[in-house]
Amino acid sequence: MKPSIVILTGAGISAESGVKTFRDAGGLWEGHRVEEVATPEAFGRDAETVHRFYNQRRQQLLTVAPNAAHTALAKLERDYQGGVTLVTQNVDDLHERAGSKKILHMHGEILRKKCTWCDAKSDCRQDLDKTDRCDSCAREGGLRPDIVWFGEIPYHLEEIDQVLGDAQIFIGIGTSGHVYPAAGFVERARSNGTWCIEINKDQTALSTRFDDQRLGPASVEVPNLVTELLR
Ligand code: APR
Repeated sequence: MKPSIVILTGAGISAESGVKTFRDAGGLWEGHRVEEVATPEAFGRDAETVHRFYNQRRQQLLTVAPNAAHTALAKLERDYQGGVTLVTQNVDDLHERAGSKKILHMHGEILRKKCTWCDAKSDCRQDLDKTDRCDSCAREGGLRPDIVWFGEIPYHLEEIDQVLGDAQIFIGIGTSGHVYPAAGFVERARSNGTWCIEINKDQTALSTRFDDQRLGPASVEVPNLVTELLR
């Protein structure tokens, strides 16, 4: 059995597919204040603006494709003779479309919706607006993207802590390390002697916490690392 691997991806892995990151130049937070579009309070105050922000991102997602980095991670999960768990902060479906199966979307998924009245969740590939009715409770105005907003608890935290505790290798790909709890995963991994590898096009706030750093675009560095791991 080979060493078990936990991978954490961020917006940087989807950048070369044409999906905007959050904090790069021209990123999503440049055009919007987080408080206006990515908090429960914003949704309560101005659901129309929140829906517009996510409707634009959902429509754009349907026009892009996975890149070589997503494909390489799917190959690693298929061919590696050890455990591979993919944790992603991304709400896109590019890992799924590239063929990855074991994915933990800790910030939710933009192609899913949930009802704030009854909590029913379902697929969502069309625009949402505040007049939409929930298929389960039939109430209007409560449907929102199934995305974890600032101030809300991310999904799968217990399972993520479990796999981090068992991992021998932790790989952080395309994340700036600004948002917790994801930004704390490298410390959790280091605390039990896990070998930590960072792939990013730039230095990040967490680069010094990694044992090995691959500086470059994910579409180049991720396939290179996967080739090494499959040797
Ligand atoms: N290859 C590798 N890394 C890249 C590439 C690329 N082609 N393009 C950008 N990056 C890196 C940037 O250098 C940056 O470190 O990806 C990172 C993107 O950082 P953010 O935009 O902050 O995205 P992320 O870290 O995923 O944000 C975390 O913050 O706003 C919340 O919920 C949102 O999930 C998101 C969380």
